[in-house]
Amino acid sequence: MRLVVFGRQGAGKGTQSARLAAHFDAPHISTGDMLREAAAAGTPIGLEAKGYMDAGRLLPDEVMLGVVEERLAQPDVLEHGFLLDGFPRTLGQAEALLGITEVDVAVNLEVPEEVVIERISSRRVCKGCGRIYSVAEPPSTNWTCDTCGGEVVQRPDDTSDAVAARLATYQAETIPAVHWFDTKGLLVTVDGVGTPDEVAERLIAAVEARLAERR
Ligand code: AP5
Ligand code: MG
Repeated sequence: MRLVVFGRQGAGKGTQSARLAAHFDAPHISTGDMLREAAAAGTPIGLEAKGYMDAGRLLPDEVMLGVVEERLAQPDVLEHGFLLDGFPRTLGQAEALLGITEVDVAVNLEVPEEVVIERISSRRVCKGCGRIYSVAEPPSTNWTCDTCGGEVVQRPDDTSDAVAARLATYQAETIPAVHWFDTKGLLVTVDGVGTPDEVAERLIAAVEARLAERR
């Protein structure tokens, strides 16, 4: 399975990718999670990334391509494929991705802007493992992660200024990449409004239908 998940900020890419990765038995590769881990570890790329992320700006394509190319060469990806969440995010990244690997399906998780703004303002994430929660669905005890016991907090780039910048960048930079995948016959759009379980069911059905068509 070589799957790309598109969707504007807060659409539920991380939430759904965790479910899709379990269903299709492929590694979930979130470039945002990788950059947050690198920033927490204080690596050179992580320190560079933090400034861009906190301001809601995209890192340069050449930096991201290096990160993704290295990840796609790992044994788990060579054996099981991948589920890319948050990459590609520009036309340049999209073209470069199809230069290094084939992609079976790209899904576009469609959620209106007013809904994602609401979701982002109530999002909370684990500082330790990145598990995603919300004010409506918090961990079972006192903002302590059910998976790893880490502290569950608001993301530093979930401020209203950074969210506005991220949504504007999505429109200007990522929509052209989504359209480009459509012209390649690889895109399927799925309604991302509903409960997480409803959306997961729709996504799995849409991906399986597309794979069956291509066989
Ligand atoms: P990244 O971490 O990828 O952030 P993003 O694209 O802004 O997307 P989000 O993680 O905000 O949203 P999501 O769609 O994953 O939603 P989630 O599942 O959490 O990237 C961060 C930054 O890294 C970028 O801004 C950039 O600086 C840098 N970067 C990363 N990749 C890059 C690249 N390729 N090139 C350049 N720079 C890059 O859900 C949101 C909330 O909604 C949660 O609280 C969740 O519980 C809730 N929720 C989810 N689904 C539902 C539902 N169905 N109903 C109700 N609530 C729901
Ligand atoms: Mg995410």
